[in-house]
Amino acid sequence: MKIKWSPEGDIKVSLVLKDSEIQFLEEKELLYLKENTNFKSDFVEVYSSVGVGGSNQLIIGLGDEKDLTSNKIREAGYKVAQITKELRSLVPVVELKAFGSLDEDTVIRAFLEGLYQSEYQFDRYKTKKENNDAKNKDREIHVFASVDESVGLERIEEAQTIVEGVFLARDLVNTPSIDLYPETLADRAHEALTAVGVDVEILDKAQIEALGMQAFLAVSKGSERDPRFIIMKYLPLGEDVPALTLVGKGLTYDSGGYAIKPATGMVTMKSDMGGSASVIGAMYAIAKSKLKKNVIALVASCENMISGGAYKNGDVISSMKGSTIEVNNTDAEGRLTLADAIYYAATKVNSEAIIDLATLTGACVVALGEYTTGAVTNAPDIYQGLENASLQEGELLWKLPAFQEMREMIKGDIADLNNSPGRMGGAITAGLFLEHFAEDKPWVHLDIAGPAFATAARSYLPKGGTGVMVKTLYRYISDISQ
Ligand code: BES
Ligand code: ZN
Ligand code: ZN
Repeated sequence: MKIKWSPEGDIKVSLVLKDSEIQFLEEKELLYLKENTNFKSDFVEVYSSVGVGGSNQLIIGLGDEKDLTSNKIREAGYKVAQITKELRSLVPVVELKAFGSLDEDTVIRAFLEGLYQSEYQFDRYKTKKENNDAKNKDREIHVFASVDESVGLERIEEAQTIVEGVFLARDLVNTPSIDLYPETLADRAHEALTAVGVDVEILDKAQIEALGMQAFLAVSKGSERDPRFIIMKYLPLGEDVPALTLVGKGLTYDSGGYAIKPATGMVTMKSDMGGSASVIGAMYAIAKSKLKKNVIALVASCENMISGGAYKNGDVISSMKGSTIEVNNTDAEGRLTLADAIYYAATKVNSEAIIDLATLTGACVVALGEYTTGAVTNAPDIYQGLENASLQEGELLWKLPAFQEMREMIKGDIADLNNSPGRMGGAITAGLFLEHFAEDKPWVHLDIAGPAFATAARSYLPKGGTGVMVKTLYRYISDISQ
């Protein structure tokens, strides 16, 4: 799909709020619409007058003004892309403007993103590709608004870049662990990110051992595939300016280890690197858009498997920080890998703050549902910035209550900490475990166990990997960049 900034086109597409006057139709057609159709401008309801004798118009309802959000504009954009797929050489043209409390710029950004969202497909493993790709690539959609073309073109480019970052994250999540394991995840990150000017360094097992990442190494022990530690640096302000450091959970497969998962829970565990996928996708968009902010991303990637050499329930392990950990449950492995990655972020690179993303706990999904990211933080200002960004981007985020009393729960019996304090408040105690390794740096933990992988398609989000939080991270960093 090619989006151009132009008021010219063959099929006029208009967005209309419920109960607003449809002034652009000729009187005769308006009368027809009112008297002969049920069109009420409900949300993403379509009135089509395309074809022989038609006025070559499409009207998309936006629903009630009081219910309008930027995400609904995004969904409307997605809808327009879907319904105009069949127009072949006829070019749709969409006029964008402010609606209700949404200003014109918000509408432009959201709508453009919605259009690009329609392009996602993951057919790498299908022997018969649906040939809509070629058809889709060449088609044009025209968009315009009251702002200058130069602004419009900037918005088009930005939306495309953000969506490319989201698609990169989705592809990584959707690739099964037979093909995507620590080494290949690192290679994919290297390939995608060096192309947009990010410096990517990949540490192998020996280098990880030399760093003393004992907790991370313990998790990786059961696998035939060696771990990798991936360091991605985008430093447009120079080496000396502190960076915002993103840390992503990178379990390319989580069998649970000796605390083995049931087959039903294990089948989607290729997605347990969703945090690293979103971090890599965000880095891509940030660097390609040349945002003026130093950003580092770190991923400790391994597989949680079973073998004679695997770590066991009841083991005591150490960590890069030196804190000892009782492994009450080998399935609570994510926090062990993240402990070392977060400690590295806090002590080995110049981080002003740390944001980690992880498909960390089933408890978070139980608490907040499948669509919402849960946060644990010691940095209310950064959290607030992320929440503002998430609202703009249509991603759902909620802060979990982490009270002092709960810090007792992560203490160990015979070691300093334990990795599995039980089911109560499990998303919060997991977050507090990570906090121990952040060394009092401003830190936000985002548990994306629910929204990283969709069990069914929902509007512009396909079934499978979603790339959740790529957009929110991009927007937050754009908001705080110079
Ligand atoms: N990767 C899982 C969490 C998860 C569950 C992600 C469902 C996506 C969907 C994580 O490693 C895990 O297994 N956590 C355990 C922790 C428990 C043993 C303390 C869990 O949530 O049950
Ligand atoms: Zn697990
Ligand atoms: Zn896991």
